[in-house]
Amino acid sequence: MLIDSIKNKRCLIVCGGGGVGKTTIAASLAIAATHERKRVLVVTIDPAKRLAEAFGYSLKDLESSGEPLALSPAVKTALNIPADASLSVGLLNPKYVLDQILEQVLTPEQATGLKKTQLFTHLSEMIYGLQEYTAYEWVTRMIQKNEFDFIVLDTPPAFHAKDFFNVPEKIKNLMESKVFQLFAPKKHTWFTTLMSFSWLEKLLGEKIFHESRIFFETFAALRTRILERCEWLSRFFSQKEVSVLAVSTPESSALFELEGLVSFLNQKNIPIESIILNQVEQKPEYQPSDYASDLESQGGLILLEKVAQIHSEQVKRAEKAFQTVERCRIKYDKIEILSVPMTYAEEGFTILSQASAALITKR
Ligand SMILES: Nc1ncnc2c1ncn2[C@@H]1O[C@H](COP(=O)(O)OP(=O)(O)OP(=O)(O)O)[C@@H](O)[C@H]1O
Ligand SMILES: [Mg+2]
Repeated sequence: MLIDSIKNKRCLIVCGGGGVGKTTIAASLAIAATHERKRVLVVTIDPAKRLAEAFGYSLKDLESSGEPLALSPAVKTALNIPADASLSVGLLNPKYVLDQILEQVLTPEQATGLKKTQLFTHLSEMIYGLQEYTAYEWVTRMIQKNEFDFIVLDTPPAFHAKDFFNVPEKIKNLMESKVFQLFAPKKHTWFTTLMSFSWLEKLLGEKIFHESRIFFETFAALRTRILERCEWLSRFFSQKEVSVLAVSTPESSALFELEGLVSFLNQKNIPIESIILNQVEQKPEYQPSDYASDLESQGGLILLEKVAQIHSEQVKRAEKAFQTVERCRIKYDKIEILSVPMTYAEEGFTILSQASAALITKR
């Protein structure tokens, strides 16, 4: 049950198809968690502007800080977060994280030298899933630093939600591919020999020769570090302290993607804590007759009929969504299914408050 995870786990990973509400659910979950845990962190990868505003930040504030920012007392009060709990928001900045990794494995001079090389610039742009990889790095660092009791990790918009879980394996395969084998500690001595030939410098030109030399000399350390971390990450998802939440909407395309994600996670033995069905239409709380006298005086019968039509369409959508939720409960009978209502509000606060209440409502 999600509520038990909130109480006992260390990290929840929120994943699902594009645009289903992962970032919104991650933030709402973090808000809900402050009622159980004292130091909560939500790591978001692409904060919607509305979400950043709801948390009282401008995107610029978040982007410029590589470290988590704690919500102000005013925002905490508005979100009904207990005064003795803290909620921090971290925006993933792959560049900052990569810099930190370089700092750990290289001397400052080596790191600066490596970053300046063209090869490194291309490589960091090329590594597929670098953003996802740095998300793991971030969470690992936060877990090790022990500054937070509970971490919610939002995942990036990906064409297939399962891509996120394949990243450690893909990066590991890349690092072990023939090209990167050249950087393996035992093998890269060939390069030192090669670099001692002065004719090579003449052939490549001084700048390229110098840059290649720095790259080859320093990248080996980075490669070893990335490989070690990928090994660790392959096991990370199946740890008892970590749980996965799969988010979908009741839309058929999102449900199709959810099905793929669930079977993929099952194959990988990664347990799913709950499935969150987000943006579930609710029956309207009003009846057209509540406004009959007002509407008739303003626009006559036509306006009243229009309102009645909108009302009946929403009732139909709500009934359809309810049936979809019930079908999901039958289909995924071993997994808890939680439903989060569609909120029609301009303000980010309202969506977050309503979603966080729905996530911890006892069924
Ligand atoms: N329960 C809800 N009610 C109303 N609007 C919602 C709800 N949940 C999410 N939204 C809105 O849907 C949009 C997409 O939400 P969000 O950014 O959280 O999705 P996402 O899955 O993180 O998207 P991406 O895949 O691009 O990262 C946002 O405008 C958000 O405010
Ligand atoms: Mg998102």
